[in-house]
Amino acid sequence: MKSKIIEGFSKLNKEEKINWLTKQYGGGSEGLKNILTQYWNHNADLQKLHDEFAENTISNFYLPYGIAPNFLINDDIYVLPMAIEESSVVAAAAKSAKFWLNKGGFKTKLLGSTKLGHIHFMYKGDASKLLQWFKIHLKEKLIKQSMDLTKNMRMRGGGITNIELVDKSNELENYYQIKGSFNTQDSMGANFINSCLEQFSITFKAEFQKSNIFDEEEKNNFQIIMSILSNYTPDCMARAEVSCKIKDLRDDISISPEEFAWKFKQAVEIAEVEPYRAATHNKGIMNGIDSVILATGNDFRAVEACAHTYASHTGKYTSLTHCEIKNDRFRFWIDLPISLGIVGGLTNLHPLVIASLQILNNPSAEKLMQIAAVAGLAQNFAAIRSLITTGIQKGHMKMHLTNIINQLGATEEEKKTILDIFKEKTISYHLVFEELERLRKENNVKER
Ligand code: MEV
Repeated sequence: MKSKIIEGFSKLNKEEKINWLTKQYGGGSEGLKNILTQYWNHNADLQKLHDEFAENTISNFYLPYGIAPNFLINDDIYVLPMAIEESSVVAAAAKSAKFWLNKGGFKTKLLGSTKLGHIHFMYKGDASKLLQWFKIHLKEKLIKQSMDLTKNMRMRGGGITNIELVDKSNELENYYQIKGSFNTQDSMGANFINSCLEQFSITFKAEFQKSNIFDEEEKNNFQIIMSILSNYTPDCMARAEVSCKIKDLRDDISISPEEFAWKFKQAVEIAEVEPYRAATHNKGIMNGIDSVILATGNDFRAVEACAHTYASHTGKYTSLTHCEIKNDRFRFWIDLPISLGIVGGLTNLHPLVIASLQILNNPSAEKLMQIAAVAGLAQNFAAIRSLITTGIQKGHMKMHLTNIINQLGATEEEKKTILDIFKEKTISYHLVFEELERLRKENNVKER
């Protein structure tokens, strides 16, 4: 087999990269090249902007950008921009928004905005001596020597809020941390936190080595392993909730409000105790959160990592949402640790991100955290509502029908007829295929 290893790929220009790929993987035709270039934007400046977001960019990867309207959040109406490929997600969000619109809507609050980062280091010696030295000598030095780095953030009202020494040697021999707490205002703060931590680490190493508190053996057994922010931010948290009288849970629901409330609560409790269900339950929540996170140019991998770490913070993976029935009232809520930004990163560069933030009335990062929590809660409400009544497939397949029809290469005329036929019928790929075949045969006979 011919070698496909290439040296210096990143140095080729875009066309050269595509030509190389087409030659290697194009199967002797220009098809691959045509697909890749077809997705280039006609606006050369806009394309250049996208090319420069990341290394080795050769094309654009489109996702549908949808809108879920009518979200009543703390007495204001919001429209949520959502970037997602799964066909039923935006529809489900919009359905939840409509359901809660005349029941007081979504209420949110910020439970905290502290972000964290650590210097992970190894130290073999007297722990109490290290702690004393840290308190009396090092902490102040770490803050002082990062003053230049933190100046702008301090001017914006943020900065370093605490630095602690944490003894982890019970969990891993000789393992300690310097744990920094930060307020990063409207930025997600990854660069700010990592820069502070790397500066801390330079100061820490120099101060430790020149200190006369530690003996030679301790100095030889001291090693900084790494300095990095944590994507787990349990003190950077938003709460979103909905509540209403049980009798108001009547809508277009096929079961009584009492049965609905009871089944709903059971469904949430099942996710609380059963990790197999919790994974799917939380995945549905993340459908809503991720799509808002993507549309607003935030880091969905960080958001996912944080949510799932929190979902297992008790030692067992559990539901991110909770439900209670008390005094004839139904209450459903999510406490979501999430770190977001509305400045920095892509947020001021990507035109669609700028548009999303505009659609959301240019929220602060703290407001955006609360909006994301609402998106997750709404999505979970819609999923459970379907699961305990009609089942999920009816709505899901209805939204997926267009994808099936497109996959089968139907014309616009055929599409209309098939959508009509399947309005009330069970949808599956096979049934749609058969129906399209039948339609085409019928039309052939008519034409003859
Ligand atoms: C599908 O993307 C998400 C659901 O499976 C979530 C759930 O089961 O709660 C519908």
